[in-house]
Amino acid sequence: MKVTVIGAGNVGSSCAEYIAIKKIASEVVLLDIKDGFAEGKALDLYQTSSTLGFNTRIIGVTKDYSKTSNSDVVVVTSGVPRKPGMTREELIGINAEIVEKVVKNILIFSPNAKLVIVSNPMDTMTYLTIKKSGLSKNRVIGMGGALDSSRFKTNISIAMNKPSLDIHAMVIGGHGDTTMIPLDRYASYNGIHIGEFLSKDQIKDIVSSTMVGGATLTKLLGTSAWYAPGASVSYVVDSILNDQKKIIPSSVYLDGEYNEKDICIGVPAIIGKDGVEKIIKLDLNDDEKKLFKKSADAIRKMNNTLI
Ligand code: LAC
Repeated sequence: MKVTVIGAGNVGSSCAEYIAIKKIASEVVLLDIKDGFAEGKALDLYQTSSTLGFNTRIIGVTKDYSKTSNSDVVVVTSGVPRKPGMTREELIGINAEIVEKVVKNILIFSPNAKLVIVSNPMDTMTYLTIKKSGLSKNRVIGMGGALDSSRFKTNISIAMNKPSLDIHAMVIGGHGDTTMIPLDRYASYNGIHIGEFLSKDQIKDIVSSTMVGGATLTKLLGTSAWYAPGASVSYVVDSILNDQKKIIPSSVYLDGEYNEKDICIGVPAIIGKDGVEKIIKLDLNDDEKKLFKKSADAIRKMNNTLI
């Protein structure tokens, strides 16, 4: 199984690292436009194989897409990350141009790959990828919900002082500070609703800190986060390559589901060897429906500036 990661920045290289360490694929190609950068990162990472114990072959290349041939999954992290005070949406112009070019090159050498889109604003970049490539909707998965859900789970776990592996929760809607929807009604401690352990105010705080989770880190780090984003990408890639059929909130193309059409937005989906294998339709209440509609409207407005 071969995975290519486009962009050897923080998120791309973390993602390559987790794919290797967790033995998700037998080969990882890291590609970047910056001379020598991906080669350096790949070699450094490869040199951890004997101490950390993995056999994944890790190759770094500058621009040479032929080395990415026949990848099963290609992860797109290309573009610029946000700086403190910036929203993901502000990256749209520059990243759209980059993502479009990258996707074209990928498909020349890996015509059957599933694509995992990470570049921001992620929902619009996922939509753009589908529109410009003509790929079937199951083959393009926007990674944002996995990350936002992992932040939501961690926040719940910290507030409850319970292990995050016992916390189940998801974030749907857009991958934006004001568009994401942490679904507290579906959040549980091993099946027991979190409302049994936390007050309404505590839950409200968790929801709002989850929504600005990325912005909080950008402020602390001076650039966009990478450990949780990289790990979340590897989680999605694992579910595709190993046909795990996990339910992962992902930005997928909707064609009437959730009353939305012709848009990519986060909803729970079964992710397996065919990519997006099934969209799970949740029975949202009126408030959640309103939030979802508002989120979709904001994404659509952004999409319309491009296409
Ligand atoms: C974040 C970026 C990856 O949320 O969108 O950290």
